[in-house]
Amino acid sequence: MVLPIFKLPSGATIPVPGFGTGTKWYKPGDPSIDRNAVDAVVSALKFGYRHIDGAQIYGTEGEIGVAIKESGLAREEIFVTTKVSYKITDARKALLESLELMKLDYVDLYLIHAPFFDEETNGISVPQAWEVLSALKAEGLAKDIGVSNFAIKDIELLAGAKEKVAVNQIEYNPYLQNQTPGIHDYCLEKGIILQAYTPLGSLTTTGPLDPVIEKLTKKYDKDAGQIILKWVLATNVLPVTTSAKPERQLSNLSLDGFELTPEDVEEITAAGKKKHFRKYWTKEYAAFTN
Ligand SMILES: NC(=O)c1ccc[n+]([C@@H]2O[C@H](COP(=O)([O-])OP(=O)(O)OC[C@H]3O[C@@H](n4cnc5c(N)ncnc54)[C@H](OP(=O)(O)O)[C@@H]3O)[C@@H](O)[C@H]2O)c1
Repeated sequence: MVLPIFKLPSGATIPVPGFGTGTKWYKPGDPSIDRNAVDAVVSALKFGYRHIDGAQIYGTEGEIGVAIKESGLAREEIFVTTKVSYKITDARKALLESLELMKLDYVDLYLIHAPFFDEETNGISVPQAWEVLSALKAEGLAKDIGVSNFAIKDIELLAGAKEKVAVNQIEYNPYLQNQTPGIHDYCLEKGIILQAYTPLGSLTTTGPLDPVIEKLTKKYDKDAGQIILKWVLATNVLPVTTSAKPERQLSNLSLDGFELTPEDVEEITAAGKKKHFRKYWTKEYAAFTN
């Protein structure tokens, strides 16, 4: 099986997998530096992760900045994503603040964190916000731009925009193969890169997947995390995972040297479809229980 290459409109390729800073170390509005988060990112970079996922709401951009500096790596060796949410009415100001916190001149990818805003309630529409992100790309402050948690109808709002949506980052795992109806196939057909957050979410709940994963861990002598991350990749989605534990950081990065067969992939897909598990945006997407 040939694994996908995630190439952006700028020509850059997104490193696989991403290392997330948003769940374990989430502390919105708290400017203090969490040494545990810094250590985790430094450790991940030392193991070889080259893609760090942040967001203004996580409160971990300061930690990302310290970790990049401590890693000793050159800026251009690391792919950095951040996202705008509660400051969506002024995404330029939000990005400048994020860059200041991360001590960077640009981000590789800037995402609208979620589509739950509109002109009437928030003073800005999704297309208007997208124009601001497009201007940030033209200015060179963001090399590529995209969205997160967008359903098909949200992406369609941007159909007429000059700048194409390059990425949609969604919750995705065997028990949640479509965060919103049809989103997986739609994005792939439109050439929009899909990123999976919470790719290991299905490991935290029991269900029809368990015997399949157990069988495959034995078949390949790999752990459950590696099998699931490989499934995510085999379905043409880029996993953004995380761990505070060095041994898991390493195993989640060690995805070379074995390939799931198309039958293995189908078995996980089929078992996953028998159960529904969603961890984030549960209120907003309560209607979708695929
Ligand atoms: N755009 C959005 O709305 C959004 C929402 C949520 C998250 N995100 C992004 O996505 C990133 C990843 O999300 P996530 O943390 O939910 O992803 P995840 O990788 O599915 O889950 C990470 C959790 O699984 C555990 N874990 C890691 N490797 C494991 C393994 N091999 N076996 C068993 N358990 C394992 C970790 O615990 P230990 O630390 O104990 O290993 C951690 O609690 C976030 O950090 C954030 O950057 C984005």
